[in-house]
Amino acid sequence: MPPGTLPPDLPLDLPDAPRLALLSGASRGLGAALKAALGREGFRVVEFSRRACGPDAVALDLARPEQAAGAVRTALQGLDHSAPIDLIVLNNAATLQPIGPAWRQPPHAVQDSLATNLAGAIAWIAAIQAQLQDTPGRKVLAQISSAAAHRPHPGLSLYAAAKAGMEQFMRVLAAEQQDERHPFVPVCLDPGALDTGMQAQLRGAAPGDLRHAADFVARRPQLRDPADAAAAIVATLRAPHLAAGACLRLEAPAPAAAAPAPFFTPGRSLPHA
Ligand SMILES: NC(=O)c1ccc[n+]([C@@H]2O[C@H](COP(=O)([O-])OP(=O)(O)OC[C@H]3O[C@@H](n4cnc5c(N)ncnc54)[C@H](OP(=O)(O)O)[C@@H]3O)[C@@H](O)[C@H]2O)c1
Repeated sequence: MPPGTLPPDLPLDLPDAPRLALLSGASRGLGAALKAALGREGFRVVEFSRRACGPDAVALDLARPEQAAGAVRTALQGLDHSAPIDLIVLNNAATLQPIGPAWRQPPHAVQDSLATNLAGAIAWIAAIQAQLQDTPGRKVLAQISSAAAHRPHPGLSLYAAAKAGMEQFMRVLAAEQQDERHPFVPVCLDPGALDTGMQAQLRGAAPGDLRHAADFVARRPQLRDPADAAAAIVATLRAPHLAAGACLRLEAPAPAAAAPAPFFTPGRSLPHA
């Protein structure tokens, strides 16, 4: 492929290429479900989190962006950087904290939030690029986003600012990758409201911190099983038609009798966090 073009259809199968997934925040919630779903697809999954549980887990606190390069080097030890790879990079880790207007938070809480969700995430992605930009193969780079990137939820300004910032970062990254000989394909995926600890934090927030806290309590029966979301995300990332720079949102599953529909569609208008 000549430099300056992105593959219109990424190869679905690179039969001889190792399948490797680098996944942040797989110690619980959606990340744990993604780890299982990627494992079922034959990926070796290296997880990055503070807890870092399991044999292929690397300790990383994204609130400390300076840790990212070392953690990525540890994860990629022994990998042949010149051989084709079937790679999925998924930035899934995030924190909702601190919930409440930014002006009421101490500066270190503002800094930790933005470092975890924005600066640390970018440092982690940049460290992976620094190691694998020139490696050939199918290289998908996905950011787990949120409707909060577009919808103002009073009390979630720090989380929302970082999610919006990451979406734009991924769009610019997609444009930059057009100049690369072996481009990554950056995409954002909004999984919708999931039954994880993050929603429990929203339900437990004080109404003085989160204006619509009661809505999150009422919404509980509609939350999606993270295992279903993870299966849809992995299917999307394995699809042949994956446009660099796309921001996709998870659709409700089609009724069993209906023709199969894509799980993710462009745009967003869902009433979830
Ligand atoms: N749940 C929802 O309704 C919903 C809706 C839209 C989007 N999302 C997005 O989906 C993704 C997963 O959310 P979730 O609901 O599964 O959240 P969760 O249950 O709270 O899990 C968050 C994960 O992020 C990791 N993490 C948090 N702070 C970290 C740090 N400083 N350094 C490294 N890892 C850190 C945690 O691991 P450690 O604590 O071990 O570090 C954990 O594995 C997030 O990006 C979230 O914004 C969720």
